[in-house]
Amino acid sequence: MISTVLVAGATGDLGARIVRELLGDNSHPATLVRVLTRPGSGTAQGMYAREDRVEIHEAAYTDQSTLTIALSGVDTVISAVSGASTVILDAQRVLLAAAVDAGVKRFIPSDYSADYRRVTPGSNRNFELRREFAADLDAAPLRVTSVLNGAFTDMLTGQAPMILFARHRVLFWSSPDQVLDFTTKDDVARVVALVALDADAPRVVEVAGDRVTARDITRTLSELTGTPFTTQWAGTTGTLSAMSKIGRFLSKDKNATFPAWQGMQYFVSMFSGEAELHHVDNERYGPHNWTSVRDVLQAHLQRTTVDSK
Ligand SMILES: NC(=O)c1ccc[n+]([C@@H]2O[C@H](COP(=O)([O-])OP(=O)(O)OC[C@H]3O[C@@H](n4cnc5c(N)ncnc54)[C@H](OP(=O)(O)O)[C@@H]3O)[C@@H](O)[C@H]2O)c1
Repeated sequence: MISTVLVAGATGDLGARIVRELLGDNSHPATLVRVLTRPGSGTAQGMYAREDRVEIHEAAYTDQSTLTIALSGVDTVISAVSGASTVILDAQRVLLAAAVDAGVKRFIPSDYSADYRRVTPGSNRNFELRREFAADLDAAPLRVTSVLNGAFTDMLTGQAPMILFARHRVLFWSSPDQVLDFTTKDDVARVVALVALDADAPRVVEVAGDRVTARDITRTLSELTGTPFTTQWAGTTGTLSAMSKIGRFLSKDKNATFPAWQGMQYFVSMFSGEAELHHVDNERYGPHNWTSVRDVLQAHLQRTTVDSK
């Protein structure tokens, strides 16, 4: 049977990886993909116009009737849009309403995060937006699956300043033994594509490409580099939370998606254990060679050695 999957935010980093998985070798050859992009966004044609199994639809997330037309005949909506409240709440609410109007069977929201369901109110803005939208999803007359995957492993060598490579230090807050969940963007995209084609997927699918502590990361880096790395106490999650509140208060753009204070909130949620995954099911879609934290760090170290030559 032909399955039609619409990906909103398919021009983005994760969205493009999800489309690639939906069209790839492991996917069902009868999967048709609709890409939803905002008018004027401009990149969808260049990315997808030559793909036989991809149709491009343009609609604004304020225009429910055009969205409903774009969604007609769609089995599953995958949202991979990114932003703060205007996107996670406002845009996704209109997308959800249009999905219901169009008779879509299943909706995958743009979660792709640690477990936001139990975080303390006021401790993590981006997680609480997801929790608020989850209440809308639970009340909607269609099936919903959230994919929870911890932090993207790729961030350890970029946006997440937990590893001080030059100083051979790995920062931790409160405990160096707190388990942290990580999954690479490519592994998340694979799971999302499989969930989209899995009519029996539950309300939440939890995966973790790797589960490590700050102490484990220190050991791995020492082994990979031959230079001893040490853990460095950076404070408690309580002090980090207080710093993030000051950062948020002083920030000029309250709606920025990933300001520095939000990064601090992500670490608060992870190092406090509040956002730890408790029902990881990596076997749900069969054996898979998950990319580990070690793999990502090793590739990063090899790249930086080559670049510095
Ligand atoms: N767990 C983690 O560590 C982690 C890290 C990073 C991201 N994420 C999550 O992964 C998801 C995808 O993130 P990403 O980095 O792939 O995003 P991204 O590259 O910034 O792109 C997302 C897409 O969303 C659409 N978009 C952008 N602004 C929008 C707006 N104002 N209204 C509606 N749509 C808008 C755009 O598509 P068009 O222009 O084509 O409309 C864009 O290509 C998000 O939920 C994000 O929070 C998780």
